[in-house]
Amino acid sequence: MTERKRRIAPSVLAANFAELGQAVSIAEKAGADWLHLDVMDGNFVPPITFGAQTVQALRSLSSLPLDTHLMTVHPAQHIDAFIEAGSDRVTFHLEAEIHAHRLLGALKERKVAAGVAIVPSTPVSALKELLPYLDQVLVMTVNPGWGGQAMIPSTLKKIEELAALRTAGAGDYLIAMDGGFSPKTASKIWEAGADMAVMGSAFYGAEDPSKAMKEAREA
Ligand code: DX5
Ligand code: ZN
Repeated sequence: MTERKRRIAPSVLAANFAELGQAVSIAEKAGADWLHLDVMDGNFVPPITFGAQTVQALRSLSSLPLDTHLMTVHPAQHIDAFIEAGSDRVTFHLEAEIHAHRLLGALKERKVAAGVAIVPSTPVSALKELLPYLDQVLVMTVNPGWGGQAMIPSTLKKIEELAALRTAGAGDYLIAMDGGFSPKTASKIWEAGADMAVMGSAFYGAEDPSKAMKEAREA
């Protein structure tokens, strides 16, 4: 069983891309648990961010677990590149993959933690058959594509639902959330039952990122 505690993963999406090395040290200094890497392809979501080459560069800068969030169509075509680049955890979107079960198997075979993300309009019930195979569920608490958006309050119910299902024995997955996490919203998120929160603009945009992370963790 994966140990459950309050994990926070800064998203480099909100960092200065000209100073990624600095972004990594800011996260490490603050006590980040993982580094969250938002890969956007211009199809699944409108923006394009970065690819496996950037993940590889970040790998060489840090020993933090790399939590790669694929916001791409056809994720099965991309996983090898992102695993070879050094991802420790790979999460793809259920909405982008018909054969999610097969892809989860492929991730496990490659010894990376296997995650599935759902956008706000996808219900938890859509994950029912996959829960026993998942290391992580990523509940999008905003519509993916951009950092700095306000959390959609109704998405918290999905975190609660996933926690209840886990208690009932549906699987042994971590519950992660992504979008609008900050020292202000944190208590609601932990209360709902999240094990991991992605922290983008509220971390890198903070005057003192270490303090912001500490406040959010202890909220
Ligand atoms: C949004 C990305 C998020 C983003 C979160 O599509 O998946 O990881 O970086 O940013 P904040 O924390 O600013 O909402
Ligand atoms: Zn993300």
